[in-house]
Amino acid sequence: MYFYGTSKVNSRGHLEIGGVDTTEIVKEFGTPVYVYDVALIRERARAFKKTFENLGIKAQVAYASKAFSTVAMVQLAAEEGLSLDVVSGGELYTALVAGFSPEKIHFHGNNKSKEELEMALEHEIGCIVVDNFHELELLQSLCSEKNVHVNVLLRVTPGVEAHTHDYILTGQEDSKFGFGLQNGQATKALQMALESEYLHVLGIHCHIGSQIFETTGFVLAVQKIYEMLAEWRESPGFHLKVLNVGGGFGIRYTAEDEPLEPSQYVERIVEEVKIQAEKYAMDIPEIWIEPGRSLVGDAGTTLYSVGSQKEVPNVRKYLAVDGGMTDNIRPALYDAKYEAVLANRPLEKAEETVSIAGKCCESGDMLIWDLPLPKAGSDDILAVFCTGAYGYAMANNYNRIPRPPVVFVENGTAKLVVRRETYEDLVRLDLPLGEKINS
Ligand code: LLP
Repeated sequence: MYFYGTSKVNSRGHLEIGGVDTTEIVKEFGTPVYVYDVALIRERARAFKKTFENLGIKAQVAYASKAFSTVAMVQLAAEEGLSLDVVSGGELYTALVAGFSPEKIHFHGNNKSKEELEMALEHEIGCIVVDNFHELELLQSLCSEKNVHVNVLLRVTPGVEAHTHDYILTGQEDSKFGFGLQNGQATKALQMALESEYLHVLGIHCHIGSQIFETTGFVLAVQKIYEMLAEWRESPGFHLKVLNVGGGFGIRYTAEDEPLEPSQYVERIVEEVKIQAEKYAMDIPEIWIEPGRSLVGDAGTTLYSVGSQKEVPNVRKYLAVDGGMTDNIRPALYDAKYEAVLANRPLEKAEETVSIAGKCCESGDMLIWDLPLPKAGSDDILAVFCTGAYGYAMANNYNRIPRPPVVFVENGTAKLVVRRETYEDLVRLDLPLGEKINS
């Protein structure tokens, strides 16, 4: 078994996270439940920040809150001195309710509505990452209407797409996001933004993909942006203050994954920026990054109760748990792989191979195929590791299954930060057709 962060097997032979016995978490909060190792999130945040500090680079590490946006998580990001990337009015609202400093919020999205942009302007957030011409015009007109100024980054698509070990050079990137760097769109957008008296162009943003294990894609993206910056220096006369290279740093879900350390990604990116800046005789800009998964992914563990079992003779054994695609849609959506153990006896030898099924009325609701486990029964708790990013964030109420609670553990203390959804919550938005249907 692989131990993430503070997780270990305690003297009772149980999985312990943040100094709290997972069987005690289950007794108190029930299952399914998401458990977050707060110390591990802090460690990751500090590693990113420290690397920039050691390299003497002015930086912002913005937590991509889409990975896991709740009031407590946003407050934790604030405690760690992170900035925040939000991608919707809802994430922005969460950040504001959490008391996050607006000037450290960056607003993303390929289709921000007028209302969302107005909300961002009203709260004077740090910057808006402008994604397309529609938004550029909308923002310009809203600013002039209200007579307010706003910092912007222009999101460009550098023609580099990276996933895990692969990166693709597409030249003309076919993406719904950003201004094409190669096809002149980015240059036109820059000209328009620079002409506006309300928009203050801080710099350029790109995001090349997610769950990336190599630095090559980042390096190529930086190179392509600098080629363009050299042109833009001449015309329209633009000097970069901020370069935001996005997120996407990979994490270990299973033994097959071999991500780099946070510091390694940052060091290589900074090195390349320095090389390019020197090549073109430009000042080193501030470098901003937007890690989501790599801050919270491996800090999350989901605990489930084992329920029904079904043996298909000579084929496989299904072990069902009390959650599934409603609390973790990633296996169904992306064929994502996870590791798991029995939390109440994690070191016991595996005796059989089982496949972990969710409880939704859908054959595709499978969490893990072919997992070696001891013989498990309904007294057992299954701990699925690495569910901290895009787990709760993408949870849903399919089959009208309530979403699990979220518990933060740190230094031997468990704190409920999102309560379990109730059946009343599920019908809260429903309006009846009539008063009584049975009488
Ligand atoms: N910045 C931008 C502009 C992004 O679009 C994303 C993720 C991030 C930062 C953070 O990327 P990260 O560090 O978390 O890889 N639901 C998918 C992941 C979608 C990522 C979308 N954008 C999943 O569950 O794997």
